[in-house]
Amino acid sequence: MTKTLHEAQSQAGASETLDPQDWGELRAQGHRMLDDMIDYIAKIRERPVWRPIPDEVRARFRAGLPRQPADLADVYREFSEFIAPYATGNVHPGFMGWVHGGGTAVGMLAEMLAAGLNANLGGRDHIPIEVERQIVEWTRAMFGFPQGASGIFVTGTSMANLMAVLVARTAALGQTVREQGVGGEGALLTAYASTAAHGCVKKAMDLAGLGSDALRSVPTDSSHRVDVAAMRAQIGRDREIGLKPFLVVGSAGTVDIGAIDDLLELGRLCREENLWFHVDGAYGALGVLSPTLAPRLKGIENADSIALDFHKWGQAPYDAGFLLVRDGERHRAAFAAPAAYLRRETRGLAAGSPWPCDLGPDLSRGFRALKTWFTLKTFGTEKLGAMIDRTCALARYLEARVLAEPRLELLAPAQLNIVCFRYRAAAPDEVNREIVIDIQESGIAAPSATMLNGQLAIRAAIVNHRTDVRDIDALVAAVLEFGARQTRNA
Ligand SMILES: Cc1ncc(COP(=O)(O)O)c(C=O)c1O
Repeated sequence: MTKTLHEAQSQAGASETLDPQDWGELRAQGHRMLDDMIDYIAKIRERPVWRPIPDEVRARFRAGLPRQPADLADVYREFSEFIAPYATGNVHPGFMGWVHGGGTAVGMLAEMLAAGLNANLGGRDHIPIEVERQIVEWTRAMFGFPQGASGIFVTGTSMANLMAVLVARTAALGQTVREQGVGGEGALLTAYASTAAHGCVKKAMDLAGLGSDALRSVPTDSSHRVDVAAMRAQIGRDREIGLKPFLVVGSAGTVDIGAIDDLLELGRLCREENLWFHVDGAYGALGVLSPTLAPRLKGIENADSIALDFHKWGQAPYDAGFLLVRDGERHRAAFAAPAAYLRRETRGLAAGSPWPCDLGPDLSRGFRALKTWFTLKTFGTEKLGAMIDRTCALARYLEARVLAEPRLELLAPAQLNIVCFRYRAAAPDEVNREIVIDIQESGIAAPSATMLNGQLAIRAAIVNHRTDVRDIDALVAAVLEFGARQTRNA
């Protein structure tokens, strides 16, 4: 044997694998970690919803790059002491800020299984991709889309909205836009959404190279539903000056108050005007699972694309965003790109085309589908629909509590699962901003704040399946207590 071959052989033989030396020890540690996390979820009520991060805890996460190995047990201890107690709090039933799902123990276990398989769902022929395709099929059926529709898991609705803009853009300008860029005719494209649409729609227009100014913000009525007549008039005016309307984004559950646009009317407008009809259903779209809410989403079945999050009302652990596109060919036309190293075969591991990487910007992708598959199979859509209904019933209960309390003022009718209200005070914006922060820091609950018609509102979005009447009562009591303190201090 030559000297170099000998050296190479002895180096290659050295044990540098990252697997444990002692599987028994790892197994015992793993069981402890799993037990602790099950306890964490089961006993979440005993913890504060959220707590401020002490400086010394934050400082620990400024430490340098670890060069030497450490015991898993020691690293886990750090997690238990310095990470778990300072998480967002959305697992807790008192969390009502922004629009966060609560996750489930089932979803957590599914995440562990997915990490064990360590599957890459960019492509190739393996069952994890069939699991994702099954969810595409279930979602297609859920929204009454035709055969040939396509779908893909993404991080969240912000990404799904961006991808929908890209699909609509390619459909409007043709394939050449992908080689030549948006210039020329692209500069004329205009899109339409209500003033209550989520900010990520504007950002999507920016990222797609169309510019956020090309999004027309159309006024809403008093219940935050888009004024379709005003949108029609704006489209007409834009055509007259030579612009090229191409896209309408309807909201199925606005971020501020949960308003649902008239999706039937928007669909009709899009058919008449030959526009792409996209629905931002980040959390509201899954309302189709509830027999009481489904009629209010009528017209969503006519959309060209829908963005939604299984991690919000669907309670799958973060992240599990999803884009559904009515015409799968148009979806592929926006993203598929040939590459020699991604060559497809009719058999072997490189079979199974089209691959998910043909439907979005990502090549490497995790197995988001598994936690959603476990969630849908374990609970079933009827139970998930009933849970969604219950969050809306809790919002109505909170609304009733606000209306019955002279010290509180309702700022918008609760249309879905979001209630916006405030404590009456001489300087209401200032006082209510402080109340929201005080409540968050108290650990009792975690509402967020928003601006409605120029007024600062305490916003409670009831998304978590664990939230119940006790949590609503605790929030109201906290608002009254901190409100009284704030006004006394003023
Ligand atoms: C209506 C609406 N659209 C879009 C988004 C953004 O979704 P994500 O945070 O999953 O990107 C949200 C988030 O709350 C939302 O409520």
